[in-house]
Parts: sequence; C-alpha cells; structure tokens
Amino acid sequence: MGLFGSSKSKKVRPARKLTGSLQFPGDKSISHRYALVAAIAEGPSEIHFFSTSADCESTLSCLKRLGVSVQRRNNVVTIRGAGLQGLRQPSELLDAGNSGSTMRMLAGILAGQPFRAGIGGDASLSRRPMGRVIEPLRQMGARIQSAEGGLPPLEIEGGALKPIRYEMPVASAQVKSAVLFAGLFAEGETEVIEPSPTRDHTEIVLEQMGAEVGRHRRTISVRGRARLEGKKLYVPGDISSAAYFVVAGLLVPESNLVIHNVGLNPTRTAILDLLVTMGGRVKVLNVEMLNGELLGDLHVETSRLEGGEIPSDSVPGLIDELPVLAVLGTQTEKGISFRGASELRVKESDRIQALAENLRRMGAEVEEFSDGLRAAGKQTLRGAEIEPYGDHRIAMAFAVAGLVAQGTTVIRDSGCVEISFPRFFESLAQVTE
Ligand code: S3P
Repeated sequence: MGLFGSSKSKKVRPARKLTGSLQFPGDKSISHRYALVAAIAEGPSEIHFFSTSADCESTLSCLKRLGVSVQRRNNVVTIRGAGLQGLRQPSELLDAGNSGSTMRMLAGILAGQPFRAGIGGDASLSRRPMGRVIEPLRQMGARIQSAEGGLPPLEIEGGALKPIRYEMPVASAQVKSAVLFAGLFAEGETEVIEPSPTRDHTEIVLEQMGAEVGRHRRTISVRGRARLEGKKLYVPGDISSAAYFVVAGLLVPESNLVIHNVGLNPTRTAILDLLVTMGGRVKVLNVEMLNGELLGDLHVETSRLEGGEIPSDSVPGLIDELPVLAVLGTQTEKGISFRGASELRVKESDRIQALAENLRRMGAEVEEFSDGLRAAGKQTLRGAEIEPYGDHRIAMAFAVAGLVAQGTTVIRDSGCVEISFPRFFESLAQVTE
C-alpha cells in the first residue's frame, strides 16, 4: 500500500452523461523538470500552474532539503536558483515519497554534487528498479550505493563527472533525463541513445534555459558546464490526467466535454491519436506554444469505438495511459490488446496484475501476459470493489470503469489519487450527471 493510501473508499455510480468544461492542474512530468532545472539555474524562476500532485511536492521538498529557496503561493512556485554547484549537503535522507521521477531525475543532479546524499521513498518506491540510473551515473564517475538488487534507498556521492555516450536498454524518459542532468556537470558532450522516442520535456526546458542540446534521430546530447538562466515558465494542463476524462467522455452516453489548456507535446499525444484512430470524436482546438510546449483545448463527444491491437512500438508513448485504455477496451467493438509493456509491472504497482484482477472483479474477460494484456470487447461491467494497490492510475482508471458499469463501484483506498491528481473525484463529480 502506498503512503498516500487511505482507508477512504469512494463510491462511483453509473453516469447518464458527462458535460461541461474543465481545466486541470499543471502537468506532473513537466513540473518536476521545471523545478529541478530552476534549482540549478542562476537567478529566480517563477513557475505558473505548477502541478498540485503529491509527487511534485516530493520534488520540491527534496530541493528544500538541498538548501534551495522554494516558495509556493497557490499554483505559482518561485525557486531561487542555486547554480550548478550551489546545492547544500542535506542533513537527512531526501524523501522522494511515491515518486520514481523524483528519485531518478534528482539522482542525475546529485551525481554532479561534491557531497554525499541519501534518497529514499515509500514502500512502493522502495520496490522500484534504480539500476537503470545507477549504471550510467556510475559510468560517469558517481559513487552510488543501493539496497540489494539496485533498489532504493540510494546513497549518491557525486563529484567530477565525465561525459559518456549511453545507449539506454529501456525506453525511459526518467533515465534519459537523469543522464542529461548529470551531463550538465561533465566537461564535454554527453549523449543518450533511446531505443524508441520518449517524452522530451527535459530537452525542451534545458534548451529554454540556455543549455546546448542536440537531437539527431534517437541520440540526444547536452554540452556540460552550461549556464542555465532562471525564467518565468508556464506548465500546461496534464494530458495524462485529462486522459481519464477523455475516455469517460467517449464512453458515457450523450457526453460533450471541453478540457482547457491541455499539454499537447507530440511525445505525449499518442493517446489522442490512438483514440481518434479507433473512432473517438476528440477535437483539438486553440493550440498555442508556451515556453517550447504546445497546449490547447480538447473537445470530446460520446463515440462508438472500434478497439484493436496497440502496436508495441506505441507503448512507450502510452505508458501512463494503458490502465485507462484497458478499461476502455472492454467497451469497444473488438476489445483491446497490447504487448511489449513489461515496464507496467514495475510502476507504482504491478499494473498488469492490478488491471487483470480488477477487471475480473467487474466480471470482464481478460487475458494477462507477462508483458501485456488483452481485454475482450462489448462487455458489461458490473460494479465491484476495486483494489488499487495504492496506485493512483489504477484508482482513476477504475473510477472511469464505474461510470459505465451496472451498479455501484467502490474504489478502496481512494486517497492514492493525490499522487498525481488530488481533486480527481471532485472534478469528476463536477461534470457527471
Ligand atoms: C515519466 C516517465 C515515465 C512515466 C512516468 C513519468 C517522466 O516513466 O511512466 O509516469 O516524467 O519522465 P519511465 O521513464 O520509467 O518510462
């Protein structure tokens, strides 16, 4: 069970329709990066629409323990940059909470600091693999210790780093970011090669703040000893949070929903492309660009969805949306299947297992693979008691399932939604009839 798990259950009843308009808090992935880069930049950064997630709060609290001045007034976070070498050795263990992004990306920055720092997290994070960042950061010269098997907590003794050319074995934006962040502290050019494209928010913000970033096909590079400059930044709404409402709007009859200011970075919009390909009526309106990131409004209407197989090479771009897509699959003509997603087993929970178990609790026919899932289509879901295993994305995916099920669905331990979207249930209630 996650730290934010609570005994608080939430009841979800079938919805007649979803209508109205919404705007969601800032994107979690982008907020982490803006805060981390602002902390090692020179001068102040003002970050508007900063994520309200507990995960991003973990990043801010780690930065404070590293001596960075961080002030939050509602959704505006002001960070006084300490410069590349201005962080202070923390007097206690840094607490990344439930956040893999915080631990992995901050590890890249700690690798460049001339002191020793420990970083740990909650029970769920303590089961998540860190070898993937330990390996390249060690190659760059950092000394890192972990619990057995490359698990947290980590103890990182940074210092002078050398640039590397690193071919990532798994497609992970967190690992890419950790290496690029460490590359800022190395003399020369650090290169990361991705097996397939992953979200590029780190590249964008580094460029925005003055670093020299190169991109050639699957290779991303950064020149070290960069001088980063503090900036006023705006975070677009979180598309991964919006995804629950987009799917709900497509599935619940007579729905007509507008979601404003959603981040539309092309490395994150695979969910929209897929839904449109399946027959979803999702329109993108009023697109604009703010500090290198696209955003716009989404208009969603109830649709008949085809379903089908999600190609494995699309999986990295859909990784956070696969739980809600599995739920959606049960309401499509052909069902949904995906393979090549073994990463889902090492997220905040084993998401393949959690999906299979909870879909079965609702009476659905599912097949579980080591690296994926198949959910049959045209299924009638029955309200059931859902066990999210402390995982926010499982809780929210099954709240959507509850809207189209027969009878009442109970999401146990619903407080875990705070990890990414504290007001999820309130927002859902706001548009549900
Ligand atoms: C994230 C990358 C993905 C994603 C996670 C956030 C990021 O993880 O699942 O929720 O912000 O870079 P991986 O890098 O492990 O694929």
